[in-house]
Amino acid sequence: MNKKIKLFDPFIDKSEEKSIIKVLQSKFWASGGGTNNVYKFENEFLKYIDSKSCVAVNSGTAALNLALSMYDIKNKEVIIPSLSFISTANAVIENGGIPKFVDIDEKTLCMDPEKILKLITKKTKVILPVHFGGLSSNLKSILKISKEHKISVVEDAAHSAGASHLNKKIGNHGELVCFSFHPVKNLAMPTGGLISINTKNHKKIAKILKEKRWCGISNRKGDDYDIKNIGWNYYMNEFSAAIGIEQLKKLDKTNLQRKKNAKKYFEQISLEEKMPFDKECSYHFYWIRVKNRTKFRKKLLEKGIQTGIHYKPIHKFSFYKSKIKLPITEKIGREIVTLPTHPNIQKKDLEKIIKMVNKFS
Ligand SMILES: Cc1ncc(COP(=O)(O)O)c(C=O)c1O
Repeated sequence: MNKKIKLFDPFIDKSEEKSIIKVLQSKFWASGGGTNNVYKFENEFLKYIDSKSCVAVNSGTAALNLALSMYDIKNKEVIIPSLSFISTANAVIENGGIPKFVDIDEKTLCMDPEKILKLITKKTKVILPVHFGGLSSNLKSILKISKEHKISVVEDAAHSAGASHLNKKIGNHGELVCFSFHPVKNLAMPTGGLISINTKNHKKIAKILKEKRWCGISNRKGDDYDIKNIGWNYYMNEFSAAIGIEQLKKLDKTNLQRKKNAKKYFEQISLEEKMPFDKECSYHFYWIRVKNRTKFRKKLLEKGIQTGIHYKPIHKFSFYKSKIKLPITEKIGREIVTLPTHPNIQKKDLEKIIKMVNKFS
């Protein structure tokens, strides 16, 4: 039986183990008090990405829901790519908005700025790019469009912990930037997310988001408290934050290994249609395109290589089913296969993946 090469596999060592034991013993497991890891994680991540404010939450989905709740998008349009995890679109619906799916650039698989322009109407409130696989969307053009048309930019940076764009860390560009720390992500926690805030009134936004992440509770003074905004139970827990602090210390090292793996794929996979190499990318995964996908993935799995499909385009799900035609997204949706980039892959396993991809594609 072949040893399985996993598609995703968090990189951990003794440091995570030690830190969660401290939380366990503190008995302050929710958020705050005891080890105060959530507060520490927010500050460490803030320093790392060099943004203005950070608010930690319990998932990337929660980050997107909360971020969009800061804009009045009821019956307004939010431009999003369809090639993403469903949370990107669900968050728009959750906030009463209308998702407007935009086609992607065939080279990067991120939203195509020229196509954004065609979708802008009086109802457009937010552009929500997804940095696909950790490769940044064309933020320069997107931010230019947003400025000219007075539309906000909220980024889905679920794949981008540690990625950069134009020499600035992702988390630094759009108004609100949403990260995911799901266990498969570059910075892994049992569950977690974060919103980075870059607006002039970042302190005020952070205060409201911090209230909203815990049921809207505000103005806690003595025996009294108030609720000014509706909120949810979206706070990050102390165990997740404890793991996150350790993961953050390793992030540059683990991302460097992901980059080395991606570079080998880029140089040695003989397919034309594959993820570009970009040293600013965090390579959450590496994508290739194959015509015979089902057979190809089956062959690789027989050799012990786990692959993924990221993603079924959102506009193809029953809930979202629309008549919209997104030719590039639909083609990619049929052909995309994702390969592991995580730092636990052994050199010989990477060589095996490349050999098998070249053999069966
Ligand atoms: C692009 C994208 N957006 C949002 C999310 C949601 O993050 P989470 O699973 O932490 O809720 C994910 C997670 O898979 C994702 O890949």
